[in-house]
Amino acid sequence: MQNPFTIGIAKNEDFCNRRQELADLVNYAKNGQKVVLYSPRRYGKSSLVRQVLKELEKVNFLTVYVDLFSISSEQDFISTLATGILKRIGSGADPRSLGDKVKNLFGRLIPVFEVTPEGLGFSVKFDRSTKLELLLDDLMEGVYNYIKKKQLRACIALDEFQEVTELAESKKIEGILRSHIQLQKEIAYFYIGSRRRILKDIFTDKSRPFYKSAFLYTLKEIPKEDFIPHIEKRFKESSKKCPSDTAEKIYDTVRGYPYYVQKLALLTWDITQKACNNDLIDVAYKLLLKMETPGFEGIWSGLTLIQKAVLKALAKEPTASPFAKEYLERYGLTIGGVQKAIHALLSKDLIGKDTEDKYRLTDPVMGDWLRE
Ligand SMILES: Nc1ncnc2c1ncn2[C@@H]1O[C@H](COP(=O)(O)OP(=O)(O)OP(=O)(O)O)[C@@H](O)[C@H]1O
Ligand SMILES: [Mg+2]
Repeated sequence: MQNPFTIGIAKNEDFCNRRQELADLVNYAKNGQKVVLYSPRRYGKSSLVRQVLKELEKVNFLTVYVDLFSISSEQDFISTLATGILKRIGSGADPRSLGDKVKNLFGRLIPVFEVTPEGLGFSVKFDRSTKLELLLDDLMEGVYNYIKKKQLRACIALDEFQEVTELAESKKIEGILRSHIQLQKEIAYFYIGSRRRILKDIFTDKSRPFYKSAFLYTLKEIPKEDFIPHIEKRFKESSKKCPSDTAEKIYDTVRGYPYYVQKLALLTWDITQKACNNDLIDVAYKLLLKMETPGFEGIWSGLTLIQKAVLKALAKEPTASPFAKEYLERYGLTIGGVQKAIHALLSKDLIGKDTEDKYRLTDPVMGDWLRE
């Protein structure tokens, strides 16, 4: 029997709940809104957005999803976005009529498609010496004109959008994008990312083009009431048993962090013969910690001494007042050091404020690793 849990994008029966979020985002899209969707890493943003786009396709939206994680230049950004758009416009079309369909889509960007064994492959060509603004105008106008002409509505999801800020000409790109997007009432845009500080700054910094141009939507954990029955059901469907209090322990051990819930359930399932129990979860969790350790070590080695000290203190004792005299004394810290370190750790998304306004580690497993 195949393991019913996944650490990849949650699709179909892997996808648990998120009913409210789905409804909210579908609704925003139907109203042509622009939305910033953010959360810590591996909370389920990409899974959710793909699900939202699927819903929108059912009501005839043109949906575009692009992952900007690996863009390395301005041209790369344009080509990734243009290819994403092209792919959707061309999907399902007869290869013989495709040429006509996309021929006049853009002025400067030239659609290229080829028939491969895996299906149709899309890309764009353009003169690399053309100015960035001309190419981006061409792209944004092209897609908008297409939507208008076909009387469609559309939703464009830009995953890992914060990567744009890494580009040398990011200010220019932000400016051009914004000037088009604000006029495109028929197109909803989702800006998705996990570098929360960087992403938020794009939309909340007064001097930036995107200032106040989108709703900020935070994705939270999947509630316990939903995840527990989901775990139980997945065990049952694969001919094993996981009582609800055991499923709850899986959830609690990793504080409901969606990626870790899946991973711990996956590892526990692997070592479960018939029925899962708490001891098996403990064994699986040790294994999980071991698997995550190289990643934590990598992060750790990139921190300054004071950042390490603050992170350790927060792992031991999350607090709403890290600058309080007793806290500083308890962990041998200074107020100036803590201030700087907290700023840096927040911007690296290694810590955040919880619902009680306490600073704590974003990653609960990293917290356990540090406490060990
Ligand atoms: N609705 C869901 N139901 C069950 N599991 C989920 C759900 N959403 C996400 N997950 C699990 O959480 C993990 C992360 O999912 P996903 O890649 O969608 O998150 P992300 O926030 O886009 O991550 P990243 O920050 O790395 O881009 C995966 O293991 C996935 O299976
Ligand atoms: Mg993602």
